[in-house]
Amino acid sequence: MIILLAYYGFKKQFNYLIMGLFTKKSIELLMKESADSEKGLKRTLTATSLISLGIGAIIGAGLFVRTASAAAQNAGPSVTLGFIVAAIGCALAGLCYAELSSSIPIAGSAYTYSYATMGEFIAWIIGWDLILEYAVGAATVGIAWSEYLNNLLTNVIGCKPIPFELCHSPFEHSLDGSLHGYINLPALFIVSVLTLLLIRGTQESAVVNSIIVVAKVSIVIMIIVFGWSFINPANHAVYIPPASTYVDHQGLSHNFGGIMGILGAAGVVFFAFIGFDAVSTAAQEAKNPKKDMPIGILGSLAVCTVLYILFAHVLTGIASIEDFRTTGKEASVAFAINKYMIGYGWLAKLVTVAILGGFSSVILVMLLGQSRVFYSMSKDGLLPNIFSKIHPTYKTPYKASLYTLILVGLFAAFIPGDIVGDMTSIGTLFAFMLVCIAVIVLRKTNPEMKREFRTPWVPFVPIMGVIVCGAMIFGLGWTNWLRLIVWLLIGFIIYFGYSKKHSKLNNSKSTEL
Ligand code: ALA
Repeated sequence: MIILLAYYGFKKQFNYLIMGLFTKKSIELLMKESADSEKGLKRTLTATSLISLGIGAIIGAGLFVRTASAAAQNAGPSVTLGFIVAAIGCALAGLCYAELSSSIPIAGSAYTYSYATMGEFIAWIIGWDLILEYAVGAATVGIAWSEYLNNLLTNVIGCKPIPFELCHSPFEHSLDGSLHGYINLPALFIVSVLTLLLIRGTQESAVVNSIIVVAKVSIVIMIIVFGWSFINPANHAVYIPPASTYVDHQGLSHNFGGIMGILGAAGVVFFAFIGFDAVSTAAQEAKNPKKDMPIGILGSLAVCTVLYILFAHVLTGIASIEDFRTTGKEASVAFAINKYMIGYGWLAKLVTVAILGGFSSVILVMLLGQSRVFYSMSKDGLLPNIFSKIHPTYKTPYKASLYTLILVGLFAAFIPGDIVGDMTSIGTLFAFMLVCIAVIVLRKTNPEMKREFRTPWVPFVPIMGVIVCGAMIFGLGWTNWLRLIVWLLIGFIIYFGYSKKHSKLNNSKSTEL
């Protein structure tokens, strides 16, 4: 009898838990919300401004900080091969993103697409996972900004650097172990200023962004062109180092060299490509989303891939792996130019100034992406209402931006750059895998849906996308897998504790499919 009661009790509980998990939002409802939301968010962005938004989000800390770090910790000069693997993964996922964003052109990115294709629970997982991409990603770039700010103070302006304790997290110590970090104040400062700019409105931010994009692309090209003749063949002598383990000065070990080194480097520098999908989060603010979204996503990805491979080849040729493990660990690009490109001190200065602006544009787009994902999740009832409050004058979801700032600020101030960088990569890779799967699912469940852009060779392209992104997750190693699992578990607790009960779709039978 007791067993029977326990069985029924458990069954009831279990039924409650799974009820509504797979409720899908209909595409018609999404489109209606999109039309309604025109009253909320302004439609101001064109195809050109979307590509600019994309490049603005893409070129940043991944190239100017993570490249040297991947070379030092994972792959040596073969970091270029890591870039190729990462680019292939992004192109495959990018083709899937383009199809989804051209058919479901509303705010919220992968989160929105999965709500329509794979149901609420998977949508929640992706939305939760996108916090790693946008919020933790913004923190990573904020930390890189802090490194280059110090370089600006010492090498450009010629004054004292910010004390080590005030520009590093509590988990870091100096190379000789004599200094410990407390808080990264410059990183906290920059994310705060940019949040305020964002609250003022997308259009103004996009104009500033365009200027920065031109500066950023110009310096990348200058480094490739001027740096090419400074490549020291000795640095490229062992292009793919033999497999071994490298233990860094914080005591963390990394797979170095061989295939695992290249996959690990691919996972690390994958960060450099993150951002092209942020274009899709602005769909609700695009003038002609169905046509402009695929152009924005794939166009910005193509430009950056070519630049990255050339840049990584030049950087690892100018300075040695030992440099990037020691004195050149921070602000690595400016370091390499100053030390080895004699007569090009001006370039190092220019790079530093342009990079500070460049990083800012990346942070801006990531903060924008995060606040818009929060906005969409809140509109759906998965997060409290307050996240979707629109500012009466600026027409931006200002409360979502302010909550985003709290989260980003905590990561920026108190966690080391390498850790937040890898967390961003692994979270985004996981979201990309789910996006690839969504394309296959949607082709089966909604074959009639109008698609302005169709991913070629389905299911081959999405399946390859899952495999390549999965390989990079594998390369990032077990500490990062563990962080992802813990992050997802926290998300499950919030979903079952709050979101499931408050979901608008689950509480309104009329809108269920
Ligand atoms: N791709 C962006 C960067 O590298 C996130 O900073």
